[in-house]
Amino acid sequence: MNIQFLSKERLFKIDTIHCSYVMAIADKEGFLGHVYYGPGIHDDDISYFTRVSEYPFSPEKLARERCAFLDTFMHEAPGNQNGDFRESSIVITDEENHEEVSLFYKEHKIYAGKPALKGLPATFSSDKKSGTNDCMTLEITMNDPILELDVIYVYSIFADSDAIMKSVRVINRGSKKLILNKIMSVTFDMPDKDYQMLTLHGSWARERRMEYRTIGHGKQSVGSICGKSSAAEHPFIGITSPNITQTEGEIYGFHFVYSGNFLAQVEKNQQDHLRVAVGIHPENFSFVLNPSDEFIAPEVVMVYSASGLRSMTHILHDLYRTHLIRSPFKDCKRPVLINNWEATYFDFNTDKLLSIAKEAKNAGIEMLVMDDGWFGKRNDDNTSLGDWFVNEEKLPGGLSYLSEKLDEMGMKFGIWFEPEMVCKESELYRNHPGWMIHIPGREPAPSRNQYVLDMSNPAVVDYVYEMVADILRNAKISYVKWDMNRSLTDLGSTYLSRESQGELTHRYMLGVYELQERLITEFPELLLENCSSGGARFDPGMLYYSPQIWCSDDTDAIERLAIQEGTALLFPLSTMGAHVSDCPNHVLGRTVPFATRGHVALAGTFGYELDVTKITKKEYDLIPKQIAQYHKYNELIVSGDYYRVASYRENHLFDFYGVVSKEKDKALYTYVQVLNRPNYKSRMLQIPGLDVNTKYQVRIVDWETGNEIPTFVLHGDTLKNAGITLEAAKGDFVSCLIEITKA
Ligand code: DGJ
Repeated sequence: MNIQFLSKERLFKIDTIHCSYVMAIADKEGFLGHVYYGPGIHDDDISYFTRVSEYPFSPEKLARERCAFLDTFMHEAPGNQNGDFRESSIVITDEENHEEVSLFYKEHKIYAGKPALKGLPATFSSDKKSGTNDCMTLEITMNDPILELDVIYVYSIFADSDAIMKSVRVINRGSKKLILNKIMSVTFDMPDKDYQMLTLHGSWARERRMEYRTIGHGKQSVGSICGKSSAAEHPFIGITSPNITQTEGEIYGFHFVYSGNFLAQVEKNQQDHLRVAVGIHPENFSFVLNPSDEFIAPEVVMVYSASGLRSMTHILHDLYRTHLIRSPFKDCKRPVLINNWEATYFDFNTDKLLSIAKEAKNAGIEMLVMDDGWFGKRNDDNTSLGDWFVNEEKLPGGLSYLSEKLDEMGMKFGIWFEPEMVCKESELYRNHPGWMIHIPGREPAPSRNQYVLDMSNPAVVDYVYEMVADILRNAKISYVKWDMNRSLTDLGSTYLSRESQGELTHRYMLGVYELQERLITEFPELLLENCSSGGARFDPGMLYYSPQIWCSDDTDAIERLAIQEGTALLFPLSTMGAHVSDCPNHVLGRTVPFATRGHVALAGTFGYELDVTKITKKEYDLIPKQIAQYHKYNELIVSGDYYRVASYRENHLFDFYGVVSKEKDKALYTYVQVLNRPNYKSRMLQIPGLDVNTKYQVRIVDWETGNEIPTFVLHGDTLKNAGITLEAAKGDFVSCLIEITKA
């Protein structure tokens, strides 16, 4: 790890374990140029890559063609309206309503440590003592002298990671008011090599599907303007070699540590250069910067891999486990839970919950989670959001009675909230109609018959926090599922001033982050799981507050293969909420063997979401075996390296993935035969990740009984290059675990 300023060459050079990122102060005027990002290189003088003197129209040589220069230069700090017609990184409106921004180098500093981003999630040092020994930061201050504006680009690296983190601070240094209409956290230019674009798209119950597309001339992007990172697109963009595989090809990955509106874009210009732009979506965004005000734009994690997708995945998993997730649970086995949502929906009472808990406990389940429907008058999804007091008709004796009964049983207790929302049919709405996001005079659009509370208003944040905290203070609650089931529309706030209305969606996110920060500070032992209609706010921002996020409302094990594949491309398995649920599956109507449902859920936090009193004896008897597997393998799953080998999404037949311990002494692979194939006796499976010179015992864990069948003793190189054969099983949707231990 090193960050240097090569003063003679006027180069900034950031070196991670295997990568270099180089920028240059170009020309006398001090444009900041993007020079290089890729495999690590020596500290040579590559300032020629700014190509300032090469351009026929360089400003020094030919001042009259300044526009042409600015429109072709490889920028790190592009402005607006100054002749560069590619995506701007910043738009400011001044008091005269002009919008040009031109940024020139002013100063820089390099220091040990990494600054926190006030109110925002961000990666942090794992050096508990000083916070400075394992990371370095470069701050480059760019300045627009006419606007009297500083834009500070902040780059940080960790000694144990190949990722580079970048955030931006915008400061009004002048005496006049400025309006910030757009600020991208990353915008830089790079040469194209026929790259493709990789994104994760989806929908409700179909989140984070990997999708490649050709990068054509012009702009192509993904984004969200619905107030959350969303199920439709994910705040990630990968720029990849054509036909990238797990082990071959280049990828530049950009992952936004933010949970609200985002834009992730690549633009190919007339010179075939690419401009990457990632940040808060400029639509419906503006921020007032009075003199001395500062705006902090959220962090982007940048990862380069020259050896395929897998190494990007490993870099991100390790980074998030070490430098983003703060929860004390992050490296721990989480209690095996049973959630009553798919078991009962709104139709439950204390007796019903206790009967589920009793059977669950007998099977080895450790925690009951009471989902939606326990508060106010909520017997369906039309009322009561905002009324966070218990419905004594359903739960006589309240939460203290229920939690005590569970405690006597030896079961932990978890509870569901949707703190950001309000229903018109609620006491909260009747008392504070102005607290809902709306535009006076317009009827706001309901969604699931609910509305969004104005979290930009500190009074709302305080009120909601106290209601939620009061429940947690008065009952023994180990876990909270924090749900968020609609998008933001009708963007008006009665709290914000007229000129600050454009701040609403960002301030909303800051309010939500503050709420969760307060919660985990007052209740440090609490296991928090985020959720948003399934996985519509599964992003790195939320991981800063909760170590796990509900991955999808689609609990069908086959559909989950693709959802979990896309999610695990970026996120550690320890973060993916995954449950065994009932069949026929409530979303798809598909029936998958109970064993397969268990195997697929093992690749996540693992739990149950069904009425355990109603399933067959055969299924019930499998639960203790599945839980035994969970206890046996979870430490490996939480801490190991993830290997995606084959994808049902691509081959339409089977899925194959695994986890190998960091020490390479054990591994667990999961094979799912999605569709059987006629006249196909066995499948050859190569098993990567192990030490090539070590001998391993390979056991197939029988998919029905859970018994382990010793099968092969082979070296790691044989497993990787030759592989094993696995007999085809009868039927579709069948699966098995392959356990590998040092012989
Ligand atoms: C959406 C979540 O994803 C579900 O798991 C469940 O909690 C419902 N909301 C409850 O309304």
